Amino acid sequence: MSLAPVIAVDGPSASGKGTVAARVAEALGFHYLDSGALYRLVAVAAGRAGVSLTDEPGLAGLAIKINISFKNNELWLDHENVSELARAEETSASASRVAAFPAVREALLQRQRALRCAPGLVADGRDMGSVVFPDATLKVFLTADRAVRAERRHKQLIEKGMRVKIASVVEELQRRDERDSSRPVAPLRHYPDAQLLDTTHLSIDEAVQTILGWYGQGVRGQPRSP
Ligand code: CDP
Repeated sequence: MSLAPVIAVDGPSASGKGTVAARVAEALGFHYLDSGALYRLVAVAAGRAGVSLTDEPGLAGLAIKINISFKNNELWLDHENVSELARAEETSASASRVAAFPAVREALLQRQRALRCAPGLVADGRDMGSVVFPDATLKVFLTADRAVRAERRHKQLIEKGMRVKIASVVEELQRRDERDSSRPVAPLRHYPDAQLLDTTHLSIDEAVQTILGWYGQGVRGQPRSP
């Protein structure tokens, strides 16, 4: 039995990969996995349960047992809508700390793979093409210059009514890029089997059309051992 196709979209924070991946999924009628949301929900659950962000076994235990669901654009944890907290900037930093632990990543692996079903899945994150779906049909590494990413994130935060300085957004992005790229497990990296999509000068729509074009033309990732 052949597995459902997967389009893996990996890349750094604020590159636009979430919006682009969700639109590609919509255009193809595929399911969509926002894998970062899982790490965010583990971080929120840790805060609730009083589990320290340095307690790897405790965090992995939460990653196995928490009840997670996605409804439209909302994130639910144990039957509570925690979208706002899960997407807050302080949770971005905690999620990145939680995500550096191998036991947490291992605990979330099967949850992610279980979402691969017909007619297909578009998954976004840091390790979709390298670890979670090494046989993904198409792998994309979506990025943009850090200054442009910081501007995009700053604009989003301002729209949410938050007052933040662009300099602190740049600093926070840099810290997270470094932590995500330097960890020994599933680091954020552009592997050669992923198509590079630099969105510094591209609109969301152009990025979506590029990925749909690659997929339609049969551009394929190379299967790799996890
Ligand atoms: O939206 P943004 O790119 O800012 O963050 P996200 O995709 O929600 O991911 C939050 C954090 O989770 C990242 O900084 C990573 O440390 C971690 N993450 C990961 O390690 N692996 C993934 N597949 C997805 C996210």
